[in-house]
Amino acid sequence: MLKNKENFVGVFDSGFGGINILRGIVKKLPDYNYFYFGDTARTPYGTRSKEIVYEFTRQAVDFMFANGCEIIILACNTASSSALRKIQRKYLPMHYPAKKVLGVLIPAAEEAAARTKNKRVGIIATEGTVRSAVFARELTKINPQIKVFQNPCPLLVPIVEAGEQNSKAAKLILEKYLKPLIKKNVDTLILGCTHYGILEKQIRKIVGRSISIISEAKVVAKKFKDYLERHPEVKSKLGKDGVVFFNSTDLTGKFIVLGSKFFGKKIKARKMVL
Ligand code: DGL
Repeated sequence: MLKNKENFVGVFDSGFGGINILRGIVKKLPDYNYFYFGDTARTPYGTRSKEIVYEFTRQAVDFMFANGCEIIILACNTASSSALRKIQRKYLPMHYPAKKVLGVLIPAAEEAAARTKNKRVGIIATEGTVRSAVFARELTKINPQIKVFQNPCPLLVPIVEAGEQNSKAAKLILEKYLKPLIKKNVDTLILGCTHYGILEKQIRKIVGRSISIISEAKVVAKKFKDYLERHPEVKSKLGKDGVVFFNSTDLTGKFIVLGSKFFGKKIKARKMVL
């Protein structure tokens, strides 16, 4: 039992893809207490409207704070692009002035802006994330000379969830999505979706060595560590029992099997009602 439950780092995703981001964070910062929450009952978010994604994410934020999270990372790119700004600017100041919610897009955009040499950055993401154009906004805010080329990839999440990442079909679909970006001569590619880290090797084969690939699991962990160093008032509130709790709004064998694959070891999960 935890001595004090008001002390988790919360990691939220529309389903289990965010477990890949959590894995990177736990690897870098193993001492903290983590509360993973996946909205598996309502996944996917990537094909939904901005308004609905905001509403679902806001509900999850309420739920996670009520369950003892001190800070929440929206590991879901679609939630980060459709809901984060409004939650940070309007919802938190009104309802949780002492709590924090962070996203994954800005860390990835900062890393891409630092790495690109020719100032041409490619993004692959869900339809919702591409439509929001938040990656483009953040990249050009950091450096107005950066040119951003995006491609929505609606078939990649189902491919990963079906375990088909090594199939011929996956290769053909990846080529279809990546070739237009290669033609634009991008030198940096953001994998702007929780699931795409699982496809990194296959993507590397297609784009070759000259394109730098930004995978969020590594980048977000590094940036979160830096964030805690810069915010001792947040860091000091976090519990340090080194526990990880997995929770989801629906629980099937798939969550356990894929979640364990994404986390790199066997997980146990609890079903929670929002
Ligand atoms: N987690 C979502 C993201 O990173 C992908 C899955 C979904 O569409 O819900 O955008």
